[in-house]
Amino acid sequence: MRNFPSIFETIEDLEKEQVDGLLKLAQKFKNNPDIQHGQSLFLGRKPIVANSFLEDSTRTKNSFAIAIHKLGCTYLDFNAETSSLKKGESLEETLLTLYAQGVDLCIVRTSQSRELNGFKDSPPIKVINGGDGTHQHPTQALLDLMTLIDLAGGEEELRGKVVTIVGDAYHSRVTHSLMALLPLFGVKIIICGPKCFQVPPETLNDSISQTDQLEPAIEKADFIYLLRIQLERHRKLDITNDQAEILKNYHQHYGLNPIKLNKINSKAPLLHPGPANIGTEIDRELIKSRRYKGHLQVYNSVFMRMAIIASILQNGDKNIGYVDEMLIRE
Ligand code: CP
Repeated sequence: MRNFPSIFETIEDLEKEQVDGLLKLAQKFKNNPDIQHGQSLFLGRKPIVANSFLEDSTRTKNSFAIAIHKLGCTYLDFNAETSSLKKGESLEETLLTLYAQGVDLCIVRTSQSRELNGFKDSPPIKVINGGDGTHQHPTQALLDLMTLIDLAGGEEELRGKVVTIVGDAYHSRVTHSLMALLPLFGVKIIICGPKCFQVPPETLNDSISQTDQLEPAIEKADFIYLLRIQLERHRKLDITNDQAEILKNYHQHYGLNPIKLNKINSKAPLLHPGPANIGTEIDRELIKSRRYKGHLQVYNSVFMRMAIIASILQNGDKNIGYVDEMLIRE
């Protein structure tokens, strides 16, 4: 098995065995929520972990912060808005600066797709992708997998199940990570939404299909995964008049409420990576109902992110920070 990557950018950076290891470790953390895990994990120097969110966040930033505290690491809240990034300093120089100050790992969220990819040959610091543009959100997909296994009652029970993803898949970094991850666990994906939100046909395969028909897609679902319309990532959408009408009345066409959902599928739990736009893809009654599992995803997120942080910190990679002998860490 490969070492855990020092730049964890995409699901494809991991082997299946590494994902299995993360699931096991996250479950161990979940089963022992009260112990200070860092005491046994980091016997030497206490690692310093920074959160650098160059784009807004509630769930990801806070769950990483809580995970860092629970692991007994020192937490650094790097405020991009008041940093020298605003004076034109590059992200790479920023990360090298943090490393020279003694930071071991930085969680980065950026609106630029693939911005972290260029760091892989020579990592300025260890990095976890907290979501990059429309590209990937690998830690969200991993905590979603953990939640799906919980809801199915086990990994074997999840195999062969169908997850229907409804909404703006094209602009969804979470969808792109789920498309890489879930088929490794025998899960089939149906992507459903108006044509202007669909993923390119060449990214479909035996495990991933796509439709603009809501009813059959929901009917076949064992789990329903809703997405918000990610307006902040829309460039110029080249859409026809009928697509424009669908977007204008999105709730009527693709939004769910309890009556509509129960008529088509009375069982499948509902997931959502958040933030949800109530009244667009989901209504208030449904988000308050027992079928909605978004808060279980958030609960699991802390344990999965603890597992990811622990794994990257312990990967033994000495090739960090451009390997200045004076800066080599024990
Ligand atoms: N799921 C997710 O990334 O949510 P935030 O944008 O609130 O972090």
